[in-house]
Amino acid sequence: MKDRLRVGVLVSGQGSNLQALISASRAPGYPAQVVIVCANRAAPALDHARSAGIETAAFLRANFPSRDARDQAMAAALKARSVELVVCAGYDSILTPGFTGQFLGRILNVHPSLLPAFKGSMDAVDRALAAGVSETGCTVHLVTDDVDAGPILGQRRVPVLSGDTPARLHARIKAEEHRLLPEIVRQIAEHEPSLRR
Ligand code: GRF
Repeated sequence: MKDRLRVGVLVSGQGSNLQALISASRAPGYPAQVVIVCANRAAPALDHARSAGIETAAFLRANFPSRDARDQAMAAALKARSVELVVCAGYDSILTPGFTGQFLGRILNVHPSLLPAFKGSMDAVDRALAAGVSETGCTVHLVTDDVDAGPILGQRRVPVLSGDTPARLHARIKAEEHRLLPEIVRQIAEHEPSLRR
């Protein structure tokens, strides 16, 4: 098999999308592997990485003089591991232009709505419920400096059911994210030779 695409994952939370990607990458023939997981806090997601024997690194804002300095250190760590694709999987800091400029066209984000609906904040599920929409969903898109507005690579629809709470709706959205994200990473690994170093 060709060398697998080297993926670095950025996390802040539970890490269910990270786990979905790790699980997918165990399947024979899956064309990508997670080589490092970076967090901006002591996130439970790091436990998924450790259990899988994947290197972890924490970049706490308090340990750096600025967001830019933090992102430069994180970019350096990713580059030192020859990361070819960065995946924001529940990462809750906005990446600085100094970071995005080093991985142009190589950063994905997972967002829990059908973008452009409910973009620009972490509470997209609550906003969808409050707006009374009949369906919402999830989006995987490329990260640009315009928050949640980069090119859309894939979406999955999720109906809003009567009696839904934010937690119940988010759980069904996440179930779709867990299928969509590994599929988009697979497509990129198989069809984007320009990402290969
Ligand atoms: C996901 O719903 C994702 O769309 C959003 O944050 C959540 C992360 O969940 N950006 P997890 O940490 O992967 O479980």
